[in-house]
Amino acid sequence: MLSEKMKILFLSPEATPFAKTGGLADVAGALPLALKGLGMDVRLVLPLYRTVRNGDFDIYPLGEDLEIPMGKQRLKAGIRGFRTEEGVPVYFIEREDFYDRPHLYGNEKGDYYDNFERFVFFSKAALNILEKISFKPDIIHCHDWQTGLVPCIIRESSASAFHADIPTVFTIHNLGYQGNFSEEKMSLTGLRRGDYFHPEGLEFWGEISLLKAGINYSNAITTVSPTYAREIRKSEYGMGMEGVLEKRKSVLHGILNGIDYHQWDPAEDSDISAKYSPSSMEGKALCKTSLIDEMGLDGSLKDRPLIGMVSRLDKQKGLDLFLEILDEVLALDVGLVVLGSGNEEIQAGLLGVSRKNPGRFSLRLGFDELLAHRIIAGADMLLIPSRYEPCGLTQMYALKYGTVPVVRATGGLDDTVVPFNPKNGKGNGFKFRAYTGRAFFTTIKRAVALYRNPKAWKNLMVNGMKEDFSWPRSAGVYMALYESVARGR
Ligand code: ADP
Ligand code: GLC
Repeated sequence: MLSEKMKILFLSPEATPFAKTGGLADVAGALPLALKGLGMDVRLVLPLYRTVRNGDFDIYPLGEDLEIPMGKQRLKAGIRGFRTEEGVPVYFIEREDFYDRPHLYGNEKGDYYDNFERFVFFSKAALNILEKISFKPDIIHCHDWQTGLVPCIIRESSASAFHADIPTVFTIHNLGYQGNFSEEKMSLTGLRRGDYFHPEGLEFWGEISLLKAGINYSNAITTVSPTYAREIRKSEYGMGMEGVLEKRKSVLHGILNGIDYHQWDPAEDSDISAKYSPSSMEGKALCKTSLIDEMGLDGSLKDRPLIGMVSRLDKQKGLDLFLEILDEVLALDVGLVVLGSGNEEIQAGLLGVSRKNPGRFSLRLGFDELLAHRIIAGADMLLIPSRYEPCGLTQMYALKYGTVPVVRATGGLDDTVVPFNPKNGKGNGFKFRAYTGRAFFTTIKRAVALYRNPKAWKNLMVNGMKEDFSWPRSAGVYMALYESVARGR
């Protein structure tokens, strides 16, 4: 079987260019293309969100509706098809009342009340389309809690079911999102309660945990960096799942994400003011000047450090540390550009300081992918002080754009950023370990001091631009894992 084209089905709650709230979308959009490049038949299933329905995608209906059992009801699911430019088939599960909404998972007030129903339905429907499209994958690769029930459903299915026995790989992109729901919803899963609702199964502190289901019932588990794979087995980072993960450590792997250089390369990026590369850096200064203009910052910042941040505004991302030292950072005679969306309290904190510092600190609240490119190209440094970071993509984007990352040494940030050593000219950024405002501020101060030494700074920028975090390398590691999981059956 393995000498033929391997067949992989990706199940993800988001993927670029269809729907995105964070890095998972970048990964689920790019990894299938890289795997296809290695000769695999990879297909992707997503919910048919409003962004897809109203977007510029040539989707087509695929046969009759399916009937999906949800407790005592049978709910209809439509199937739509699409083929990406690169030839990856994408299937969308259509159900207006579940997915035709302004957001993917919730609004400012919180998560949608029926996320359990929405994603259990998605998981079941995704498996049910396989027979219809006559595609029997060698591996089903599930991403995050939204697809965590899939390995369970496969285990429970009768031997005659089309999807019986397909091995699964489950990737944890963020242990902070566990998909924990009231046990009263157990009947909607169709699983026998006694067989699954227990501590060795999907029960977690009296609730159903879809993430735990994925961890306990998949054939292999991955997470998105080697350091995070170690961290989550300890209580500091395990979010209560450390014991569950420790028990499964023999099948837990840390595989560093790649980044998509077709989307993120200053030499090719048509969304930035001027293109540039290590051998021709003039464009970087132009990007900085345009960003200063666009964001209404003081023109004198052209010759001073311009510090950027592009982030979900969430506790995970270390915004509390940033708010704690913000006034001191501004006193260093630097400019600040922040793009973020999320938590209202953090938004209010940032707004307060930006209003007091017009021309010096420009804040954009919202999700704006093109502006993210312009900030990452135009800033001199990018701050990522995360409390925890499974992988983090923005530091790798920053490196490619010659924008020096200043990060906390955790998870994938620790795996990708190497402190610059002015003595031997090696390293690609700045890093601090203790989760304190002091440690963060001292590190920013060191970066600002080095900026005043143009030769050393250029050396540092170019080191980062020459790093290679492209997907094919990581895709090769996934391929080896898929093969060993498929062989283990
Ligand atoms: P996470 O997935 O935890 O948010 P990552 O660093 O893996 O962190 O990925 C974040 C992705 O989302 C990057 O592509 C980044 O550019 C993008 N992003 C984050 N916040 C915004 C925003 N406000 N506007 C546009 N893009 C954003
Ligand atoms: C999650 C993590 C982030 C990671 C991304 C893609 O959103 O928070 O660190 O880069 O998933 O794997």
